[in-house]
Amino acid sequence: MSNRAAQQPLDPTLRSVESQEFQAALKGKVVGQEEGVRALVDLYQVFCAGMSSAGRPVGNLLFLGPTGSGKTRIVEAAAEILFGDPRAVIKIDCAEFQHSHEIAKLIGSPPGYLGHRETHPIITQEELAKHHTDKLKLSFLLFDEIEKASDSLWQLLLGILDKATLTLGDNRRVDLSQTMIFLTSNLGGGEIMELMTGGMGFVQPADRLEDKLDMKVGRTAEAAAKKKFSPEFMNRLDKVVVFHPLRHEQLEQILEIELGLVQKRVLETGKGQFLFRATAPAKRYLLEEGTDLKYGARHLKRAIERHVVFPLANLLATEQIRFGDMLVIDWDEKDGCIAFHREGYGAAIPAPPRRHARAATVRVATSASIPAKPKVSEPELEPVMS
Ligand SMILES: Nc1ncnc2c1ncn2[C@@H]1O[C@H](COP(=O)(O)OP(=O)(O)OP(=O)(O)O)[C@@H](O)[C@H]1O
Ligand SMILES: [Mg+2]
Repeated sequence: MSNRAAQQPLDPTLRSVESQEFQAALKGKVVGQEEGVRALVDLYQVFCAGMSSAGRPVGNLLFLGPTGSGKTRIVEAAAEILFGDPRAVIKIDCAEFQHSHEIAKLIGSPPGYLGHRETHPIITQEELAKHHTDKLKLSFLLFDEIEKASDSLWQLLLGILDKATLTLGDNRRVDLSQTMIFLTSNLGGGEIMELMTGGMGFVQPADRLEDKLDMKVGRTAEAAAKKKFSPEFMNRLDKVVVFHPLRHEQLEQILEIELGLVQKRVLETGKGQFLFRATAPAKRYLLEEGTDLKYGARHLKRAIERHVVFPLANLLATEQIRFGDMLVIDWDEKDGCIAFHREGYGAAIPAPPRRHARAATVRVATSASIPAKPKVSEPELEPVMS
């Protein structure tokens, strides 16, 4: 007779609370690209369980896909969540190491060489450990645009991916067995665009074909990678993830995230913090302006800088907005441009306590100081901050 307890079914798909939280936070910052999110969370779970293979990096992930689709963002977002800083990533731009002699910038030159003392290696044990916490001794290393790497950088990369060690110019050894390695490439990006647009420059209304298209995109990118990269490189990867071009509704979500980040920037300025919200027509305009399939979300970010950040900076610098104001970013139908108006001032953020201050007077906007604009109907006003 078998023991019931011994037969108790287990759930191998269940993730730890830490991993679940990590996944949820990552999904909050990276729109779509589920495969990339899953690959990162899987590796994190293996690392947390102490099951990463000895003598290898924690994971070697290759991210393929068009420009502005989130390949770099996902790594920065993960760093922000795990280490509290999106810059907690050692980033190597392979385009900067196209000539073999430039490798010294990466690993330092051997003693005795001219400039030995001045060249500080980029990848060192100290640098890797810089963002370790008591709980998490993990590091992120990102090689961007690997298709541009020189032969000597490839040799170095192959060694790192396989043995998790790197020998610096002065013979010091760097151990990368606590490191997740990310490699990104646009390879196949052009062909993917062709697929998405049928060569017509815009995404076809291909709802019912989406799954098929996603498969094609995946196959195209992987085929481009196999053609370009050697089998010994491909064999060292734990996973190849294809990032997909962003669709309209995903750009909509990214717009919300980016406006939230602008609000955060405003609140982090030393002076003149204020709150703002964008109306639905203003958001529609930003999306129209910011949609360019070729450049993905990069184009959207530029539209936000141009139409929101620059004007806000002007308003701040000329003291037209002040601490605690509430601002509305709207679309001016008549003039065909983004318009800014204040709907409340001094009240949105509690003022910092002042010594000997008299009770602060909270003033509500009136038409006296600010030229009134026609009020936008309520449902169109959507707060940026949730
Ligand atoms: N999937 C996404 N979710 C959220 N934000 C995104 C996403 N994709 C792009 N972005 C936004 O666009 C910016 C540029 O994206 P990112 O740097 O990740 O592009 P990339 O895929 O690495 O492109 P490239 O190949 O040119 O380096 C990011 O900083 C982020 O603000
Ligand atoms: Mg990138």
